[in-house]
Amino acid sequence: MGRVFVAGSINMDVVATADRHPKVGETVAGNAVHYFPGGKGANQAVAAAKLGATTALIGRLGRDAFGQQLRTFLVAQGVDLALVKDIAGIHSGTAIITIADADNTIVVVPGANALVSAEDVAAPVLAKGDVAVSQFEIPQATIGAFFKRARAAGATTILNPAPAMACGPELLELVDIMILNETELGFIAGTALADTDAPERFIEAARRLPTDADKTICVTLGKRGVLALMGGEPSLIAGRAVKAVDTTGAGDCFVGALAAQLANGKAIRDALEYANAAASICVQRMGAAPSMPTAAEVADALHP
Ligand code: RIB
Ligand code: NA
Repeated sequence: MGRVFVAGSINMDVVATADRHPKVGETVAGNAVHYFPGGKGANQAVAAAKLGATTALIGRLGRDAFGQQLRTFLVAQGVDLALVKDIAGIHSGTAIITIADADNTIVVVPGANALVSAEDVAAPVLAKGDVAVSQFEIPQATIGAFFKRARAAGATTILNPAPAMACGPELLELVDIMILNETELGFIAGTALADTDAPERFIEAARRLPTDADKTICVTLGKRGVLALMGGEPSLIAGRAVKAVDTTGAGDCFVGALAAQLANGKAIRDALEYANAAASICVQRMGAAPSMPTAAEVADALHP
């Protein structure tokens, strides 16, 4: 059985819920405030660990109260933190999130995440069958170094290029599986996309990405499901009808679940169905990392 290695961000999500989002310059009264463990790297690692993969996180925290709380939470979820360093003089990653009507806005301040280095990702010993996962909340040069090592070891690389930002072809060439939403796809493909667009528009944009033709590209489309291009061939995995209360971390759940399934030797098609079901559970609960499902819950959703 392979293992999952996630090089990525760890954040404390400071979440305010309100009846509606404020406009610029406006103040609205909120309903509640929560402190939820989050960060794309941590969320993906928690999803993978809870779904049965041996999972290690590579990252950095500040030496502050949030850092201690995040560490305690992640260890309790079964994530190996031996490669997460505590750094003096900088704060732990922090995301300021507002949620109204299940939709969120996020301001993420990297803090210690910005210091995750090529040296950090040189520490783990990867092997064939392992899965290496990363996202854009740590420096891209670090991701490149991580994926080079993973490739050399025969591990599978998964990139979730989120949040949306530009990246060069030299990084994309190191990616086996790319998982992104319509905004991120539009950004990298250089075309504006909306979640209401026809599937053909996404297929065309995905085909334009500078990755090899035999790569898998998964476009997560929220309640519409997931569009996957495998070897250039598109297939749509339908969204599951659920009542969303908080979509924060749903994409991360998909990524972590897919990584866990692949590390456990599952075929990509089945892994996609599984990850789609996992994400549909995540959106029905508040919080990012705390809303990741267990294997029993996903099995229930797939075979009620
Ligand atoms: O993908 C969701 C995550 O993005 C949140 O947990 C928040 O920390 C931001 O980084
Ligand atoms: Na959630």
